[in-house]
Amino acid sequence: ASAEKGGFSSFMDKEIHDQPQAVGDTLLGRFDTEGKLSLDEMHIDENVLKSIDKIVVVACGTAAYAGQVAKYAIEHWCRIPVEVELAHEFRYRDPVVNEKTLIVAISQSGETMDTIMAVRHARQQGAKVIAICNTFGSTIPRESDAVLYTHAGPEIAVASTKAFLSQVVACYLLGLYLAQLRGNKFRDEIALILKDLQTIPEKIQRILDEGKDQVLGLARRNEDVGSVLFLGRHVGYPVAMEGALKLKELAYIHAEGFAAGELKHGPIALIDDGQLVIIVVPSKRGRDSLHAKVISNIQEVRARGANTVVIAEEGDEDVREFASEVIYVPETSTLLAPLLTTVPLQIFAMELATAKGLDVDQPRNLAKSVTVE
Ligand code: G6P
Repeated sequence: ASAEKGGFSSFMDKEIHDQPQAVGDTLLGRFDTEGKLSLDEMHIDENVLKSIDKIVVVACGTAAYAGQVAKYAIEHWCRIPVEVELAHEFRYRDPVVNEKTLIVAISQSGETMDTIMAVRHARQQGAKVIAICNTFGSTIPRESDAVLYTHAGPEIAVASTKAFLSQVVACYLLGLYLAQLRGNKFRDEIALILKDLQTIPEKIQRILDEGKDQVLGLARRNEDVGSVLFLGRHVGYPVAMEGALKLKELAYIHAEGFAAGELKHGPIALIDDGQLVIIVVPSKRGRDSLHAKVISNIQEVRARGANTVVIAEEGDEDVREFASEVIYVPETSTLLAPLLTTVPLQIFAMELATAKGLDVDQPRNLAKSVTVE
């Protein structure tokens, strides 16, 4: 098994390091010679994609957080309403879906029973289903109208890492493709995003090469932590939830991800002396007002004694004043930031679990693929 882990201490560690490749491979072959997106592989009628008036993403676990990121991106680029729903909730609440609804079913394994049932239900209502899947020929792609494969390679560790990043990439590709088809209003911005996407693998590599040790040290110093709160805003919100999920799954630590704006409506009551709070800060460029708002959220928890660890973009000096520690990630477009900000959170959870002597590849009570409802 140690050969299969390629010299890493666990499959998870290896898979975190596979991420530049997983993202690169998921982008590969999906552009034509003029740099336009071409997703003919989906074999889905363009007129169908032009006529849809709503998108519903269905998924479970980490895949559902990829869907949450997709919502911000697709609504902005395509001006189509996007809902994201846990597959098991969607299936049993009599959702409004019809021929004009596009269902996007995200699943690494393609065998998650809850997601399969949601796909079947949606198709019975006449909806079209596109699967985003990492496993060739599995049930979800077979039962869908079309499939966009992620090319992360086999993921062995139970907690999803490289599959998640490639699901996020596939969602971006789908959103950008829909924008392209439907004659988008953001032509320049989209051209920039397509260019930025190509630089993501090398930026993830830089986090692994230059930032990993800092995160390892942080995790080791927090081995005895009892609870961790994660805050984020905009696309940083699903990243915060994913960071919290990883910590629950791997280190069995109580963790929650909150929308930073919601802090004052409840969660701030949890802040006590020494409470570890990890904050995902949006880039200063683009959405300046959001940046300032998150900084003031850091200030608020800091004033109540929190130990504030901040994930911010390189060059962001404003965060320093209120941060116990800053972890910098390279710059990118606002909507693409989850591909970078997630990585330190994966490393943090993995190392904290390792420091506690836990098996990071096989956490207790969890299965890689849940094939029962
Ligand atoms: C299980 C795994 C999670 C995964 C979820 C969805 O709960 O432990 O890591 O995110 O299933 O799996 P899927 O294969 O559908 O992406």
